[in-house]
Amino acid sequence: MTDGDRTSLWVGTSPGRRWEPLAGDWTTEVVVVGAGITGLTTALLLAEEGLQVTVLEARAVGHGTTGGTTGKVTSQHGVLYADLVDMHGDEVARTYGRLNEEAVAMVRDLARRHAPDAAFETQDAYVYTEETAQVPTLHAEVEAAQRLGLPASWEDELDLPFPTLGGVRFRDQGQMHAVRYVQGLAEAVAARQGCAVHQHTRVTGIRDAGARTVVETAVGEVTADHVVLATLLPIIDRGFEFARATASREYGVAALAGDDHPAGMYISAEDPSRSIRHHREGDDVYAIVVGEGHETGRGPADAGHDDPLAVFARERLGCSDVRYRWSAQDYVPVDKLPFIGVAPFSERVHVASGFSKWGLTNGTVAARMIRDLVLDRDVPEAEIFSPSRAQTGSGVGEFLKHNVEVAGRYVADRVSTDASSVDDIPAGGGGIVRVDGKLTAVVKDATGATTMRSAICRHLGCVVQWNQVERSFDCPCHGSRYDVDGSVLDGPATSGLAARDDAG
Ligand SMILES: Cc1cc2nc3c(=O)[nH]c(=O)nc-3n(C[C@H](O)[C@H](O)[C@H](O)COP(=O)(O)OP(=O)(O)OC[C@H]3O[C@@H](n4cnc5c(N)ncnc54)[C@H](O)[C@@H]3O)c2cc1C
Ligand code: FES
Repeated sequence: MTDGDRTSLWVGTSPGRRWEPLAGDWTTEVVVVGAGITGLTTALLLAEEGLQVTVLEARAVGHGTTGGTTGKVTSQHGVLYADLVDMHGDEVARTYGRLNEEAVAMVRDLARRHAPDAAFETQDAYVYTEETAQVPTLHAEVEAAQRLGLPASWEDELDLPFPTLGGVRFRDQGQMHAVRYVQGLAEAVAARQGCAVHQHTRVTGIRDAGARTVVETAVGEVTADHVVLATLLPIIDRGFEFARATASREYGVAALAGDDHPAGMYISAEDPSRSIRHHREGDDVYAIVVGEGHETGRGPADAGHDDPLAVFARERLGCSDVRYRWSAQDYVPVDKLPFIGVAPFSERVHVASGFSKWGLTNGTVAARMIRDLVLDRDVPEAEIFSPSRAQTGSGVGEFLKHNVEVAGRYVADRVSTDASSVDDIPAGGGGIVRVDGKLTAVVKDATGATTMRSAICRHLGCVVQWNQVERSFDCPCHGSRYDVDGSVLDGPATSGLAARDDAG
């Protein structure tokens, strides 16, 4: 995950590997779009079954959200299970927990076989609290998790270097270097007969062609029996996943720590949360602190989201230099269940999304399910995670609220601008300005040189917002992000902000 001079520890410590872009047309059995953990695990599982698989990645392997994780591989997803039981009942919550426990074991095994340099380590996972009001909630979580068969217990004393009121422990979970893991999977896919991985190849559309599907890119088309959209949020969506999940952006820092760091991986129950773990890289030990999440395109425009994380690393964990700062995003469904399975618009297209910032296991769960769906095997859990499921229960209120807010960004007349003229944008800044009546994304470099593009998101037409921290234009509707030159950083958009002549 790289944005300007902001690079995650994982991307910054992984040598780029060469997988050439697609060149010309190609026919295969399965195309996987997206080379994060979901796409590459799916590709490998299908390749191991003897299918010919081509992976197409817009950027580089592992440079999406997988490159911006904390790197915890666990079925402990913050405080979740008591809520899941309330929303969906014991059976659904038990299935979610079991599949994610199985995913921990699967990642451990795949790392051993294909990515020993990902340094998969078994660790316990903890949700801790410093607030008395959270203690009953955490006890309820232990009770729910134990009843569902998960390896949960209450601990009064934690190893953290500051006082807590205790927390929920899940035994025998894991942590790893997520980019080296997916690079290992990509090597294993590319090594298989008839399989290929192509980086720097953005998919711009898909279309039916008789019994097959054609995947379109600027440099060629790939025709396949099955397509898997593992693009974080599907780039094509006629099942309204867009409307049923919110994009949430979160920040991370990695700071030098001493050798006497606590064992285990931690996340606070409080809001804003702090997710903490340690990682050894050569002689250096890093404390990783992740938090300060907000909906994409709705964060405060000023710099410094990650400053509180750096302060936390120094003051609470005793760290020195902050060496890496980054941010990444994931999609959080209103009903807390991922969308995995056959896309509502085509039996040959599969989607996997909505991992609520726990996609190292949820993406692995998705890969296993999609392998079995492609191979026409029975998948008993398919209905629970179906992208076509109805929105029910307490998720409905959230669903309506989110979409009323989204609708406001489509009405260009009502969108407020950041400045009344281009001259008012300072050197080094950016913002949305009306120029000749058209909403325009304006950015200035340090010398004041100005770039202007249309401010209308190429996905479904919302108005983008300037993000001063990452120097990007972010769409508050479904999370597409654009670089200062207008090119796509994050989908679901597949093309960059239009030139001013085409601007809306
Ligand atoms: C700050 C943060 C911390 C997290 N920490 C954890 C953690 O500790 N444990 C955990 O389990 N989960 C964690 N998560 C969540 C987890 O990282 C994600 O759910 C997971 O990485 C998603 O993987 P993915 O393969 O589905 O998506 P990605 O890794 O985003 O991969 C999708 C890929 O698709 C590509 N793509 C997009 N559009 C196109 C296109 N048109 N054509 C071709 N390619 C395209 C992208 O470039 C990208 O590489 C965290 C998330 C965040 C934001
Ligand atoms: S991401 Fe959907 S309209 Fe911008």
